[in-house]
Amino acid sequence: MRRSIITGNWKMNSTVAETVNLINGLLKAGAADSKGEVVVCPPFTSLESAGKLLKDSSIGLGSQDMSEYKSGAYTAEISAEMLLTLGVTHTILGHSERRQYHFETDDRVNRAAKVALEAGLTPIICVGETLDQRDSGDTEKTVGSQIEGTLAGFTADLLLRTVVAYEPVWAIGTGKTATPEMAEDVHRFIREKIAAIDKEAADQVPILYGGSVKPSNAGELLSQPNIDGALVGGASLKVDDFIGIINAL
Ligand code: PGA
Repeated sequence: MRRSIITGNWKMNSTVAETVNLINGLLKAGAADSKGEVVVCPPFTSLESAGKLLKDSSIGLGSQDMSEYKSGAYTAEISAEMLLTLGVTHTILGHSERRQYHFETDDRVNRAAKVALEAGLTPIICVGETLDQRDSGDTEKTVGSQIEGTLAGFTADLLLRTVVAYEPVWAIGTGKTATPEMAEDVHRFIREKIAAIDKEAADQVPILYGGSVKPSNAGELLSQPNIDGALVGGASLKVDDFIGIINAL
């Protein structure tokens, strides 16, 4: 059985006070009683407060990125060790907004993922095609090369501690969701690509879907055989919506 994971990516939303409210709301609404894993990823500035609130709960805490370096002269970067001290358990890497606005490459994601794993953090590695790439029939070529690049040099042991998220760029924050069949096709393809590295590990790697997931479409998406959870943006900022998606598991 693969793990099921619902992750909330809060992006650049929520002050410390708003984070405290949202997490208290989630705890009160039973987010910690989910059958699957639940992870929230507030901004860096809220991680310390979030870590204190989640300390004794089963809800995981993720950062939205981290440095590929361990320490040193890297102005504004945040290291794995710094995150660990705040109770962080996961880190999103290679989100399409980081790729688009901050020029992150597969190679950088690969290096950061290895540093995260070495520190004991779970990387959530994001891949996904743009609308142009999908329209030109390049979805598999794009996603395939992102998987090869971000997972280069991974052993079975590293794969077993990694989470992958498929997020078609055209579905993020647009209200357009891939149909469950479209998403499942790419998830199956991603699993086959991972199987080329290690077949047994590939069966265990959770592959999350992201892109306009909401309570009304989560059930159908999550019922697909290769969709093991969701990476939720906008809907993770509202307690009722996020709980609705968690309950869809
Ligand atoms: P969205 O964002 O749910 O708002 O589309 C998903 C994501 O970017 O992780």
